[in-house]
Amino acid sequence: MTSPLLHSLTIALGERSYPIQIGSGLLSHADSFAGLPTASAALIVSNSTVAPLYAQALQGALRQHYGQVYLLVLPDGEAHKDWQTLNLIFDALLQNGCDRKTVLFALGGGVVGDMTGFAAASYMRGVPFVQVPTTLLAQVDSSVGGKTGINHPLGKNMVGAFYQPQRVLCDLDTLQTLPAREISAGLAEVIKYGPIADMAFLDWIEAHITELVARDVHALAHAVRRSCEIKAQVVSQDEREGGLRAILNFGHTFGHAIEAGLGYGDWLHGEAVGCGMVMAAQLSQAMGLVDQAFVQRLTRLIGAAGLPVRGPVLDAVDNAGRYLDLMRVDKKAEAGTIRFVLIDGPGRACMRGAEDALVRAVIDRCCAA
Ligand code: NAD
Ligand code: GLY
Repeated sequence: MTSPLLHSLTIALGERSYPIQIGSGLLSHADSFAGLPTASAALIVSNSTVAPLYAQALQGALRQHYGQVYLLVLPDGEAHKDWQTLNLIFDALLQNGCDRKTVLFALGGGVVGDMTGFAAASYMRGVPFVQVPTTLLAQVDSSVGGKTGINHPLGKNMVGAFYQPQRVLCDLDTLQTLPAREISAGLAEVIKYGPIADMAFLDWIEAHITELVARDVHALAHAVRRSCEIKAQVVSQDEREGGLRAILNFGHTFGHAIEAGLGYGDWLHGEAVGCGMVMAAQLSQAMGLVDQAFVQRLTRLIGAAGLPVRGPVLDAVDNAGRYLDLMRVDKKAEAGTIRFVLIDGPGRACMRGAEDALVRAVIDRCCAA
């Protein structure tokens, strides 16, 4: 049977180029996995929520290509994106006698994808891996572009590697079983692409936000496709974030502070990014880069996507100070100076430092009393 592919695009990285395939029912079709590196074994890495839903279908399809298809089920949650859980992947690979040709399949959201990618980057100094993202956030962002890693108690995604997958397979059907809160979290990363790169896409998202929240399959297909196109263009130009790629972190500096400050897993990553985009837009306005109407428009859309638009209080005594301390651990910080992704006119992003006093004022204005 031919697999029902809706769209395929390529992320152009020379010999590390790979396809992103978007469609319905892809993960249960053996054809979806044709042409991958040959190996005697494959390991599916998933978690306790996703495996019961999709692992059997994926295993069935992969058995057409690999003699052994092992399954490892990790505990679910951002709080498990750590060394201890990563080590379970190495345990499974070694206990099953997996060699350096073994192909890893990340079946799940960004947490499973980032950890599986990092395990693939380091097991026997590198084995091939395939992303099978099952959250909206993972389909529009984390599965594409080769950022892999885990959290450290002192900072988000602080340990990891750039390591590209062989293929990304976005099966849109999997989005139907996502909790509503996770759809909203994924929409934060979809919305992100508008202000940083494509205002026409922002117009489209605004016009279709109700369908997107209601997970209409046509609306989701377009959102996944356009998001992946924009991300592919950016990553193709700047794979290892020497400059341009940092724009994909719009909202993430404030967002990472929220996640680390509350403890990973309290707010979802996408919720923190959504709120972080409001704060970054406010900072852009405070620096004279965009007008109030733009900030209000973005804030309204983020709210309509079901995301929080007011930041949490991280410290009752010096809330802004706590945010600043946490943001200094951000990977974009240079010698302790925080570098923000700001909107430099609609559809255009830039990287800037900002006066602490200005940032403090924005945090005070944006955080719930
Ligand atoms: P997640 O992986 O925790 O998944 C969210 C929840 O949805 C989990 O409980 C998961 O088990 C469940 N789930 C997944 N698919 C499901 C399905 N189809 N049906 C029902 N439940 C399902 O979170 P996420 O939002 O996918 O990813 C967030 C992570 O991604 C963060 O760790 C973030 O740092 C990372 N990230 C990485 C990049 C990158 O470029 N590598 C980019 C953005 C985010
Ligand atoms: N999610 C940001 C990046 O991939 O660079």
